[in-house]
Amino acid sequence: MFNFDFYNPTHILFGKDRLDNLDKLVPPHVKILITFGGGSAKKSGLIEKIRNNLGNRTVIEFGGIEPNPRYETLMKAVEVVRNENIDFILAVGGGSVIDGTKFICLASNYEKDTRDLLKLGYTKITPDIVKKVVPFGVVLTLPATGSEMNSGAVISYEHGKYVVKSDMAFPVFSILDPTYTYTLPKIQVANGVVDAFVHTTEQYLTYPVDARIQDRLAEGLMQTLIEIGTTAVNESENYDIRANLMWSATMALNGIIGAGVPQDWATHMIGHELTALFGIDHGQTLAIVLPALLHVRKQQKQNKLLQYAQRVWHIENGSDEEKIDLSIKKTREFFESLGIKTRLSQYGVTADKIPVIVEQLKSHGLTALSETKDLTLEISLQILEAAM
Ligand code: NZQ
Ligand code: ZN
Repeated sequence: MFNFDFYNPTHILFGKDRLDNLDKLVPPHVKILITFGGGSAKKSGLIEKIRNNLGNRTVIEFGGIEPNPRYETLMKAVEVVRNENIDFILAVGGGSVIDGTKFICLASNYEKDTRDLLKLGYTKITPDIVKKVVPFGVVLTLPATGSEMNSGAVISYEHGKYVVKSDMAFPVFSILDPTYTYTLPKIQVANGVVDAFVHTTEQYLTYPVDARIQDRLAEGLMQTLIEIGTTAVNESENYDIRANLMWSATMALNGIIGAGVPQDWATHMIGHELTALFGIDHGQTLAIVLPALLHVRKQQKQNKLLQYAQRVWHIENGSDEEKIDLSIKKTREFFESLGIKTRLSQYGVTADKIPVIVEQLKSHGLTALSETKDLTLEISLQILEAAM
């Protein structure tokens, strides 16, 4: 196992009616900005409920944070924070609203060109770059990204998606009430299952470092997602299933399973380009890339793929290669059982677009991806061809 630091200060309040605690969680006498998306949280009555729980604090709303939140939209919220002297932000929504809010919190006190904050990638924003942040809490409505308990954000600007990371960007608290997911369209639930699953594979399907706890936690998450996936999509008001989905998604990217182990993230990096170029949902891009990537990288990932085949899919028969191939096939079938297409061509992307995608990877400096940093543009090309 590698050396690691584990730091996660987010207070989780999980279960039904946890919103009742809001009054105690948010400091008294503060001016609050509620951030939300395109309107689902208004329509469901959640925003109104939140306003009631905030009592007579001053509340301003900022709606319209779009999926794959855009820098320009977020800068409008930064203006509100600055002009209105906002003390606390409450993000109500899924990954896009939470990520967008993290950026707003960081950018509000950054005096130079806030686009600088998009250029740091996995280098963390520290207090010498941004002196202070506006604290924020979360009311989660879509289990998928893990953003409710981590310090990362993905922000869209021009034709790219930019990773922003900072220990100052953890939510102070996150309210995880599975009943708030009942209004989700099926496709968003399916996207969430895939996203949580692929966050797990990115931190597990690498090479062995004898990290037994992380491995078994990851295997538990994947087995749970396989077990509950289709029911989560089909039974919108099944509380226990939605509760398991919600906690799986949070656990998949709150740092616990990734501590002390190699991490890949190539599926995400290639997937981000597919969203930026063709507008394909984040979860769907992962369902397209992962099976193809595992196929192309099965030599490099052989040991962990074999462990995955045996422990997650319970494949006992056949040669090592047959077991691995079957596990990749089952992974694809699992995504498809959720109603998610796994081929680039099924999203209307033709083979002549592959060089454009590779060019985008190049322009974003993504030329040495994966846990071993040897996934070149040539290999990305092979993966995209295998994904057609
Ligand atoms: O905008 P509204 O009207 O709220 O509708 C949203 C949106 O259209 C809808 N929705 C959310 N909760 C709902 C609901 N509709 C009905 N009922 C509810 N309860 O769902 C749609 C998608 O929302 P979005 O927040 O975009 O989805 P998701 O949570 O999948 O987030 C995706 C974003 O997260 C980033 C992705 O790149 C993408 O930008 N990621 C963030 C990560 C992180 N911070 O750690 C890691 C991930 O890998 C991911 O990259
Ligand atoms: Zn993801």
